[in-house]
Amino acid sequence: MRLDATTLLAFALAGAALTGCDRPPEPPATADGHADPVDALNRLDPRRPVPLLPAMAWHQKQSMQQHLVAVEAITHALAHEDWDGVAAAARTIGTSPDMQRTCRRMGAGAEGFTDLALEFHQRADAVEDAAATRDAAAVLRATSVMLRTCTACHAAFRQDVVDAATWSARTGMTPPGH
Ligand code: HEC
Repeated sequence: MRLDATTLLAFALAGAALTGCDRPPEPPATADGHADPVDALNRLDPRRPVPLLPAMAWHQKQSMQQHLVAVEAITHALAHEDWDGVAAAARTIGTSPDMQRTCRRMGAGAEGFTDLALEFHQRADAVEDAAATRDAAAVLRATSVMLRTCTACHAAFRQDVVDAATWSARTGMTPPGH
């Protein structure tokens, strides 16, 4: 093989890239020689992966969409000083035994996730409590404190959709239905 200037430059840059920073190795290429797009995305996304089975990932997405609907309902009711409306909307995302069970399962393979999730639901409880005071500023304060948990979690974690064997290995739990 003849080494021309371009090839040498490519080698030099590859060497510099390897020694210059601690990037993870290139992901395996697919059959057609291109990098797997999901691997490529995961390399760009520095957040901690939360291993989830496909059905759990879909459940989490639906639950997230409902969380945002609840925030919309809280702010709408607050704008109309509808305190019962604020309380009812906050209750849909508040602490419940069902919610706690789901959060523990969702976070089983990602340290810190469940704690943040449970903290979030407690902060939603505080929005419901604030509604009872009929004090708009107090409701707004509690809502902003709650929203901080949404954004903190989004900054720290991402979904990682895995098969049943991988989920078991990473959570130490038996997959549902097995
Ligand atoms: C304990 C963690 C946690 C909390 C708290 C949390 N989320 Fe999420 N949310 C996630 C994760 C993880 C994802 C998936 C992110 C990814 O993989 O890119 C997500 C995704 C979403 C999505 C995208 C859903 C879709 O269809 O793809 C929305 C919308 C969302 N969250 C809204 C909210 C809102 C609003 C709140 C608070 C009121 C909230 N979330 C609180 C962890 C959390």
